[in-house]
Amino acid sequence: MSVVGTYLKTLTARRTIYALKPELPGEITIKDIQSVVQTIIKETPTAFNSQPNRAIILTGEAHRKVWDQVADGIESPDGKKRPASARDEAFGSVIFFTDDKVTEKLKADFPAYAAAFPSFADHTSGAAQINSWVVLEAMGLGGHLQHYNGYVKAALPGKIPQSWTVQAQLVFGTPATAPAEKTYIKNDVEVFN
Ligand SMILES: Cc1cc2nc3c(=O)[nH]c(=O)nc-3n(C[C@H](O)[C@H](O)[C@H](O)COP(=O)(O)O)c2cc1C
Repeated sequence: MSVVGTYLKTLTARRTIYALKPELPGEITIKDIQSVVQTIIKETPTAFNSQPNRAIILTGEAHRKVWDQVADGIESPDGKKRPASARDEAFGSVIFFTDDKVTEKLKADFPAYAAAFPSFADHTSGAAQINSWVVLEAMGLGGHLQHYNGYVKAALPGKIPQSWTVQAQLVFGTPATAPAEKTYIKNDVEVFN
């Protein structure tokens, strides 16, 4: 298969998988995941090459502690289910942040674009999240993307800088089931000459 074919096949294979086992597949180690996420954080493009993306990886006791605290913070029994499953069924989570210090400096340096920089930070974070999700799929992992941002921020280890805004959590493990069926709208990309 061509490089493009392989890339698109992997992109298409990335799916939301909630049913996970708290283990890594085959020969994969947490260091491999760290290295992949490191490369993605480095290479994902950013507005004016400002590089606001930050990430940490939680696993083991740190992972259980954070998700336990998130589940504890939610009142409704139904609402607790997803964070409790992340705690008990996932091997780890990538926590994505953007550094507000970078966005503030951009605003000061380029006042004409100031209003755009917060959403540019969101865009590049989304790109890093989905790049990571696709590569984890290619490594045989499965996962789902969550946004318990305020709860997660409150539960994270103390050494996370105050200026880092939590953007998302990519919860990962070994897939326990195939993904659910997915439907698509008709949505043709047209070429105009
Ligand atoms: C920007 C964005 C935000 C999402 N937020 C959540 C979320 O908070 N919780 C969740 O369970 N899934 C979340 N998802 C997953 C989507 O529901 C899922 O990607 C979509 O239904 C398509 O399914 P697929 O991932 O299997 O292709 C999010 C996805 C994206 C791209």
